[in-house]
Amino acid sequence: MTSLGVNIDHIANVRQARRTVEPDPVPMAMLAELGGADGITVHLREDRRHIQDRDVELLRQTIRSRLNLEMAATSEMVAIALRVRPDMVTLVPERREEVTTEGGLDIISQKAALTDLVSQLQEVGIPVSLFVDPDGRQLEASKLCGAQWVELHTGAYAEAGWTEQPQELARLSEGSVIARQLGLRVNAGHGLTYQNVEPVAALPGMEELNIGHTIVARALAVGLQQAVREMKALIQNPRLDPLFGQTPG
Ligand code: PXP
Repeated sequence: MTSLGVNIDHIANVRQARRTVEPDPVPMAMLAELGGADGITVHLREDRRHIQDRDVELLRQTIRSRLNLEMAATSEMVAIALRVRPDMVTLVPERREEVTTEGGLDIISQKAALTDLVSQLQEVGIPVSLFVDPDGRQLEASKLCGAQWVELHTGAYAEAGWTEQPQELARLSEGSVIARQLGLRVNAGHGLTYQNVEPVAALPGMEELNIGHTIVARALAVGLQQAVREMKALIQNPRLDPLFGQTPG
């Protein structure tokens, strides 16, 4: 059965919009686990636009499921991973100006460097997954790098119109077959939603889907009414002024 890795970056995005302490992705990860998350995924970006170093450290200490650290293939990030020891590292391409991860890694053009990073991490027991498009040549290069896993980029499938979606699903299906023939284990993610997830989850051999934005969006939708109700109750029925012991005015 396909498992679910919940990506909580967008919770941190809301916090960083105000540089305050809420919402804190660390206790939210526990709620995701209570909801059935099999793992928690965070992307520690070079520019620290959402997840912070402190989040990764605290998640490592507090979550009971698995911590999947998404990161760029840089020596700074490898040093962090070697210290924090996540349960998996997913290497992703990263550009400062992008809104989100835009494509899979080009493994072919950076095979030597990636092979070195993969072996540094796997030598200490951290399995490495490479985020790649469902492309046979990239998958073969992933295997040659020594990675144990790949995460198939589902962005093209998610963005395709309904007439092209079957074709993109077929690419994912073929990619998953090729990866498994090469001896790689297969995850997938990016852009998946409540509307488009089922055919991907049903692909044979699909081990885990990493899903973030749509879950955080749904959490807002299902939680907003209660949040407003609670604020309105406070405003309409204020307690004694907590500082002065009386209702002001
Ligand atoms: N997998 C990878 C490698 C990603 O970079 C992302 C986005 O951070 C996701 C999965 C989750 O994508 P989404 O937020 O669109 O569900």
